[in-house]
Amino acid sequence: MIFWRVKPLDQILATAERKSLTRQLGAFQLTMLGIGAIIGTGIFVLTAEAAQKAGPGMMISFVIAAVVCGLAALAYAELAAMVPVAGSAYTYSYAVMGEAVAWIVGWALILEYAVSAGAVAVGWSGYFNGLLQTWGFPLPDFLRSGPFGGGSFNLVAALISLVVTALLVIGTSESARVNAVLVLIKVSALVAFIFVAVPAVKTANFHPFLPVGWGSPIGGGGFGVLGAAASIFFAYVGFDAVSTAAEETMNPNRNIPIGLIGSLLVCTVFYLLVGYGAIGSVGAQPMTADGHTLLPGSPAMAAACAHAHNLVCSKEALAFVLKDLGFPSIGNLVALAASIALPSVILMMIYGQTRIFFTMSRDGLLPQGLSKVHPRFRTPHVITIITGVSVALFSALFPVGLLADISNTGTLFAFAMVSVGVLILRYKQPDRPRPFRIPNALVWPVCLGGLIGCAVLFFSLQALTQIWFLIWAAVGLVVYLLYGMRHSEMARGTK
Ligand code: ALA
Repeated sequence: MIFWRVKPLDQILATAERKSLTRQLGAFQLTMLGIGAIIGTGIFVLTAEAAQKAGPGMMISFVIAAVVCGLAALAYAELAAMVPVAGSAYTYSYAVMGEAVAWIVGWALILEYAVSAGAVAVGWSGYFNGLLQTWGFPLPDFLRSGPFGGGSFNLVAALISLVVTALLVIGTSESARVNAVLVLIKVSALVAFIFVAVPAVKTANFHPFLPVGWGSPIGGGGFGVLGAAASIFFAYVGFDAVSTAAEETMNPNRNIPIGLIGSLLVCTVFYLLVGYGAIGSVGAQPMTADGHTLLPGSPAMAAACAHAHNLVCSKEALAFVLKDLGFPSIGNLVALAASIALPSVILMMIYGQTRIFFTMSRDGLLPQGLSKVHPRFRTPHVITIITGVSVALFSALFPVGLLADISNTGTLFAFAMVSVGVLILRYKQPDRPRPFRIPNALVWPVCLGGLIGCAVLFFSLQALTQIWFLIWAAVGLVVYLLYGMRHSEMARGTK
């Protein structure tokens, strides 16, 4: 049956060898790329939204999201080391579950990469617009946010997306070097935050600990510890972008697992300390009206926040905490650091997206012209420019929380498929060499745990976001039936 045609692993590796990118990244650069992709809008901006959804119980949300990502990272490491090819979850699905599933995964990865790049650009614009105001050059209101946030066009979010795109067209190694500097700035900001906030923690700020309860994966409410975990999951996303750089990595069998797991571990430690410091130092109880918790990003929430001084209302969560603790200049420095460094996340996300499109077009599921490599810069410039312009457009128009949640649906789906993929491949090709191997006794708990964790988080998102995902997947299926199924290299037997 055509839907289930799989692309044998050896064939995938041979194709990548024939039409490949230059191998220039090492373990350190990869880990830095991972950290560059992970630390971003999630911790700097969405911490406030998570606190609104769960109160101090957000601490548990951070742990739940980290555990789900950790399980997925192990699964990614096993597959990425076996199949060090640019397409990440898309490629693994092609080898294991067949072309139609691979297409849907690739389609879902557009949510993970391109949409999240947009979310980060919007989150960044919150900090940058704040700085412009501090410096006395505020933009007019209609250019500060998109139509859903009370403006018309988020100008700086669109501009930063285009600048990052230009950098990516010029070249990978230059981009990786810039990325390393930006990561250092970002990490310094988090360290400064931790040094100021953690000593100021007071036990009283953790009471009541669960003002909104645990939440539930049934009913799509999006609140409570689980609802916050499903949203703050966004903060951890990005480690998997390491696997999309597989074809540009030296000694990928060793370096890819180091990059994936190392970057996730480093960021998890930072996040737990930052979350503890933020909640414990200034406290954060959700805003309510008529006994109901208000939805972040809603007009009711905006009205309630108009005169409130509460972490959950802030668009620059970490700077808010520092200013509230009486360290305004450190707060401004952290805001400056976020403004300088968050673009590294946009960079990594657009980079990951282009490498996935590159692989899909090489496979014939997208038009071949997209995988053209620039003669001088050696980068897939056509697809980079198309991706960058799309990111600029939706960052100009949509709010950060919505983009982040929608992006999470696609990511959770991809993570779930990777976990399933590891299990199927263990069954179908038990003897294939696995340079990184989840210990045999743990492979079921890790992969099944990852699958269940992703499902629980997916269903803990707001119902509206889940519906968006289903519509997106249905559109993807139609595109596949109309284009990919006929043009696929596998279908035409050209590989
Ligand atoms: N994890 C990335 C962020 O928090 C996407 O911005």
